Amino acid sequence: MSLFRKKSLSDILAQAAESEKGLKRTLGAASLVALGIGAIIGAGLFVRTAAAAGQAAGPGVTLSFIVAAVGCAFAGLCYAEFAAMIPIAGSAYAYSYVTMGELIAWIIGWALIMEYALGAATVSIAWSEYLNRLLGGAIPYAWCHSPLESFTDAAGVHQQGIINLPALFILLVLTLLLIKGTQESAMVNSIIVFIKVAIVLIFIAVGWQFIKPENHTPYLIPANTPPVIDQAGKVIADYSGWNKHGWGGVLGGAAIVFFAFIGFDAVSTAAQEAKNPKRDMPIGILGSLVVCTILYILFGHVLTGVASWKDFVDPAKGREASVAYAIATYMHGYGWLATSVTVAILAGFSSVILVMLMGQSRVFYTMSTDGLLPKTFSDLHPKFRTPYKSNVILFVFVGAFAAFVPGSVAGDLTSFGTLFAFVLVSIGVWILRVKAPDIERPFRAPIAPVVSVLGAVICFVMIISLDKNTLITAFGWMILGLIVYFLYSRHHSKLKTPGEILPHAKDFE
Ligand code: ALA
Repeated sequence: MSLFRKKSLSDILAQAAESEKGLKRTLGAASLVALGIGAIIGAGLFVRTAAAAGQAAGPGVTLSFIVAAVGCAFAGLCYAEFAAMIPIAGSAYAYSYVTMGELIAWIIGWALIMEYALGAATVSIAWSEYLNRLLGGAIPYAWCHSPLESFTDAAGVHQQGIINLPALFILLVLTLLLIKGTQESAMVNSIIVFIKVAIVLIFIAVGWQFIKPENHTPYLIPANTPPVIDQAGKVIADYSGWNKHGWGGVLGGAAIVFFAFIGFDAVSTAAQEAKNPKRDMPIGILGSLVVCTILYILFGHVLTGVASWKDFVDPAKGREASVAYAIATYMHGYGWLATSVTVAILAGFSSVILVMLMGQSRVFYTMSTDGLLPKTFSDLHPKFRTPYKSNVILFVFVGAFAAFVPGSVAGDLTSFGTLFAFVLVSIGVWILRVKAPDIERPFRAPIAPVVSVLGAVICFVMIISLDKNTLITAFGWMILGLIVYFLYSRHHSKLKTPGEILPHAKDFE
């Protein structure tokens, strides 16, 4: 039984035709760009920008955005090639099952759990922060923080988290919506995209006048910056690591804000609905990346100019709900803006969580129909026709992270999972060019090996720039995945009998 047994392209296309019957090719380039922006702008911008500035990059977070965007652009071109060639749902997991075989597909699928499930947890934690800010801090610290979070404020009062209830609440509401099968209409998506872009533009335009040049000097965190310690002597930020100051800090920051770009691959999943995939997919993927990158750089510039990056370390200042904090504290006369931005951010976060939960249940569904996960994950509700059991299991899993793990930990693991999938997709495109040069490719990534190699290398550099604890935890998660594969999935795979696939698999040998 080969670890590299593959699904055949003809099977997968037939499966796609069966499950996605009747999808119309209605999306033009502009709609694809809007789709991308809708999936991209979220907690990454409104929470992780401040985290990256405070923990690693300082005002140089603008440069971190550029590094992350370049990595995404290369990986995005590779996604576009796969998406146009294998136009099916299931994202990177499905592409790699056809091209690199079952084991790699499993590894990517397992990493995607970090992207989607932990991504949903991260955004729900961010939702909780902004809700608390909207309520004027009315929720006691203990009930909106993980038990792993604590600090002692300037007055010597010790705060200790117990559970993050608001994050659990929003996940529960959205899970119930998903089970009921509520689909966000294109109209709702457009409204949310409009609101999100509007907030970012207003913040940039209004905030520009409040920039204090001294907040931008020095631009990178100096190597000799002392650690930040709370009243009880607990270290809450340490700048001694190579990826916590100077140019290394810019890379460390890139790995953190990378989260803000996650979601552009959503454009690639719409390949079947694009009017002219060859032209529109790259425009959709790269166009949404370019628009977001410009917005992000300007946003980072204004945020770190209005408030000092040091504020974003202090739990009593702008460590949480940073944008609302910066407006309320430094942009006098704009209290109304802080409130409306917060309300809009809560709506925007909800749609990102929904997309992520849906994406995860879709990947689970596909893995389950392939036999790699138990059938429970693809059981449909008799009335709503949604994978309700999978949604409930997902709620328990995501909820456990949202309730008990700090947002920065979940966010960094999300970045890891996504970057890991990007590395494998970038390499996969090249492998397939060599192994199966003649397959029809409606869209070809330009100067292929260069784009693949750069995509893989830049994303890999971001992986190793992540925090050490993140890397250790992620490594443990991947090992757990391999154990599950060898104990369960390998024996339950629908491709157990090699003969079943050989007739078609030769396309890729
Ligand atoms: N890019 C999405 C966000 O920032 C995941 O929330």
